[in-house]
Amino acid sequence: MRAVVYDRYGPPDVLRLEDVDRPVPKEDEVLVKVHATTVNRLDVHTREANRRSGLAVSLLSRMVSGLRRPRQRILGSEFAGEVEAVGAAVSEFAVGDQLFGNSGLRFGAHAEFMCMRESARLAHMPASLSFEEAAPITDGGLNALTCLKQADLRQGRTILIYGASGAIGTAGVQLARYFEADVTAVCSTKNLDLVKSLGADRVIDYTQEDFTRNGETYEVIFDAVGKLSFPRCRASLKPAGVYLPTDGFGNLMRALWPSRSGDKKVVFQIPPRQTKQDVLFLKGLVEAGKFRPVIDRRYPLEDVVEATRYVETEQKTGNVVLTVP
Ligand SMILES: NC(=O)c1ccc[n+]([C@@H]2O[C@H](COP(=O)([O-])OP(=O)(O)OC[C@H]3O[C@@H](n4cnc5c(N)ncnc54)[C@H](OP(=O)(O)O)[C@@H]3O)[C@@H](O)[C@H]2O)c1
Repeated sequence: MRAVVYDRYGPPDVLRLEDVDRPVPKEDEVLVKVHATTVNRLDVHTREANRRSGLAVSLLSRMVSGLRRPRQRILGSEFAGEVEAVGAAVSEFAVGDQLFGNSGLRFGAHAEFMCMRESARLAHMPASLSFEEAAPITDGGLNALTCLKQADLRQGRTILIYGASGAIGTAGVQLARYFEADVTAVCSTKNLDLVKSLGADRVIDYTQEDFTRNGETYEVIFDAVGKLSFPRCRASLKPAGVYLPTDGFGNLMRALWPSRSGDKKVVFQIPPRQTKQDVLFLKGLVEAGKFRPVIDRRYPLEDVVEATRYVETEQKTGNVVLTVP
């Protein structure tokens, strides 16, 4: 089968198309014929061993993915496709079923075929979506859900979502809306209309207004794009307010060892737990018309380097899809 592989950590052009052996499903696995996948920030960070996040994070990343070189040569975590074959013990899926899911750090989706355990983050595709629409449900969706679950979102609870136009941000706005929170979203001018259409009650253009200086306060601040810090947001949090980061070594440390001064805190699930139930929850929201992944650009699999360069601009709106012919 054809797959995008890489043998060393580095810039996007370490990625190349190669013919590799098609994986064989184990007893409890399905073999998925991948029709669509994505390039997301997890692919980007893993491919460059998180070098932009400093030495400690880069070392941690290499300990997970392979110290000298990547153990898993094929990136890609999100996918939508069809069941090509099933292991003997598989009961939930049958050959020909259409499904979508997320392999997380096991990756493998930038290929014509991949194997997934049936108990993993895998579900039948919502009937209303194409493969290209279903592939990007889970990255932003699961990351946003994992964070928002920590904040007891409910009717009227006030939340500010920073970076509301990215993969996690666009999912976060829709989920916060679903939980009936009062949503203030922050993005740049070009994304104001989109973010409003996703359900934000109000949108702040960060090129015009600094939310940390306008005197407003929130019960929850969700930094969906990893550009803020707890100290910068502290004054914009109400008493006992919660800061939800998606990134940052400092945030991780603050979540593990909360400051003893004051009752505002950083909350970050460590390690993040994302389950099959979460995927089914997102599927239910899609079917109920409450959630739709935002797609910016689509590229064929062979243009993975170009797609990756675009993702690395940090300017994508929502998600970038790869179609697998
Ligand atoms: N995706 C993953 O798998 C994953 C997993 C764990 C953690 N993370 C982390 O989560 C964060 C978000 O990931 P993502 O995939 O959602 O990001 P993304 O889709 O790449 O975010 C792109 C968006 O960020 C906005 N943006 C760029 N610079 C900004 C700034 N200075 N201030 C505010 N907004 C800015 C841009 O919109 P505007 O033009 O509107 O600003 C753009 O629409 C990243 O820090 C990533 O490392 C990602």
